[in-house]
Amino acid sequence: MPKDLEALLKEERIFKPTKDIVEKSNIKQWMNKYKIKNYMELLEKANNNPDWFWDDLAKELEWFEPYKNVLKWDPPHAEWFLEGKFNIAHNALDRHIKNGKGDKLAYIWEGEDGKTRKITYRQLWRDVNKFANALRELGIGKGDTVSIYLPMIPELPVAMLACAKIGAVHSVVFSGFWAKAFQERVNDSKSKVAITTDGFTRRGKLIPLKENVDDILQNTPTIKNLIVINNAGIDVKMHEGRDLWWHEITENMSEECETEVMDSEDPLFILYTSGTTGKPKGVVHVHGGYAVGIYTTLKFVFDLKDDDIWWCAADIGWITGHSYIVYAPLLLGVTSIIFEGTPDYPDPGRLWKMVEGYKVNVFYTAPTTIRMFMKYGPKWPEKYDLSSIRLLGSVGEPINPEAWVWYYKYIGREKCPIMDTWWQTETGMHLITPLPVSPLKPGSAVMPFPTVQADILDDMGRSLTEKGGHLVIKTPWPSMLRTIYRNPQRYIKTYWSAFKNMYLSGDVARKDSDGYFWIQGREDDVLSVAGHRIGTAEVESALVSYECVAEAAVVGKPDEIKGEEIAAFVILKDNFKPTQELKDTLKYHVRVEIGPVATPKYIRFVDDLPKTRSGKIMRRIIKAKVKGEDVGDTSTLANPEAVDGLDRAL
Ligand code: PRX
Repeated sequence: MPKDLEALLKEERIFKPTKDIVEKSNIKQWMNKYKIKNYMELLEKANNNPDWFWDDLAKELEWFEPYKNVLKWDPPHAEWFLEGKFNIAHNALDRHIKNGKGDKLAYIWEGEDGKTRKITYRQLWRDVNKFANALRELGIGKGDTVSIYLPMIPELPVAMLACAKIGAVHSVVFSGFWAKAFQERVNDSKSKVAITTDGFTRRGKLIPLKENVDDILQNTPTIKNLIVINNAGIDVKMHEGRDLWWHEITENMSEECETEVMDSEDPLFILYTSGTTGKPKGVVHVHGGYAVGIYTTLKFVFDLKDDDIWWCAADIGWITGHSYIVYAPLLLGVTSIIFEGTPDYPDPGRLWKMVEGYKVNVFYTAPTTIRMFMKYGPKWPEKYDLSSIRLLGSVGEPINPEAWVWYYKYIGREKCPIMDTWWQTETGMHLITPLPVSPLKPGSAVMPFPTVQADILDDMGRSLTEKGGHLVIKTPWPSMLRTIYRNPQRYIKTYWSAFKNMYLSGDVARKDSDGYFWIQGREDDVLSVAGHRIGTAEVESALVSYECVAEAAVVGKPDEIKGEEIAAFVILKDNFKPTQELKDTLKYHVRVEIGPVATPKYIRFVDDLPKTRSGKIMRRIIKAKVKGEDVGDTSTLANPEAVDGLDRAL
């Protein structure tokens, strides 16, 4: 590390945003309206009266019929903006057309090959209307679910918004997952229609998405139609009576489409996320509260102004993209970048060239990307003019102070505050995050967003300071998940049963004596690989589904760039030989079953796995071995000799 960076770190400096940033910020303007003098007073006022805070912001959006109450909190169930009639697509699109914003750019899209498409609000509105009409013609309406499996092409937000417009519930599946994962999610959501594309390119390589989908559609009984976007020009086989071309079904549709009047609490989407057991959880978000939560956080945390160019460099297939590429920027009416490619392709200057070219003002990415750029060195960002950037953001995993300082220095040129935003698929919006008025400590997500109360608890539920413990949220927030799709019991069990009336995040964190939160990572059996949440159980079931595998245990091995890499310990069935070829086959198998993000980097064959007397695999012990740490107490193991076997395998 360069000497000056080291010095910065050692200083334990607090970074105060400049007066200019503070005074011009949206949050400061809002504070002025209520004569609130500083950050701490803001938190106090909002925490004492959350209904007042959210009511004030909800009124900036348009309601078909006003809500009667801001919140009904009957733990663990919250309802927000009760009896309000609302549609997020109306607020994201129709409202702007009505208010004369039609010619403004909604999206600047850039493909991996450098192609661009500039899409105005009017164009987007028309495309959404046409596709919404086409969906209606196919019999899709309020409450029906639609599964979407698309790369980062403009049709992805169009499809999502079209569903929202007619009251259908979308379930987007990350295109980096393979078709088996799509199949599981289609079946759980009982979708009637699926949307995909012929294919797309990744690092110059063609991925034939439609062909992969064809293989699984025999096993998805609820699907009536598959809509296919002609994106890569692949000659695909269309299945008579089932498959439809997007361009054909939209061609003669009207450019206008009536927006469905929804209740605030009607579902907007399902997004699957990894849990501690094999089956992913379908997290459900709704129209009203979700919209208010993400609108407010984007406005206050990332401080977007009307003429800003906003770039959230995430994938729309994850919650970050749902909230902060698709819905929130459109609610705010700003211009966003959508980037289809990979950050270091064709070279590590790609992102910075785009920042320069589009004059990006606010840039949001994940620590894994920053760490990758640290490895390439500052020469890449230094080649470009990044002076348009005013504010930076980080999300997805803890940002180590070294990466924070590097980001601050080489991307932010020592003038841009970094918003390290902690949140989850379930929370829908940022929950622990700085604001442009907060003093920053590198590596800390600072404090909960106004009205949100968080704490760190020990196993007995006692509040901890300066010690790691369970991160819990004690108050409801508008864009919280409402349930797990078709599994209300799992909602209660996963999030609300550890501590009474508190949301259990599943993360371990620490609160320092200044009240700053430091997130340490997941406490459950969930891995974080390059910011992607992957359940150990998902990878294990994929491995065990291969004929020669008797049993498998998966743990995370710390990795400098990706945070964690997947290490799998596999017991083979009798008669199978532990060869290198078999390792490669197993890696490939997981890749096909789940997707490239879930591919184990390491596979080790063992004769036995450490287990408790009740037969539960002790991942804690395997993890300690992988990290080269002391395994601690092994007295509860039924088979302590398995630990020596791990040593031999490593
Ligand atoms: O462990 C936390 C980590 O990502 C998890 C949520 O993952 P997911 O639902 O996929 O959503 C990711 C994008 C919001 C959390 O439980 N995480 C997220 N943001 C941060 C973080 N860890 C540390 N610092 C963050 N800023």
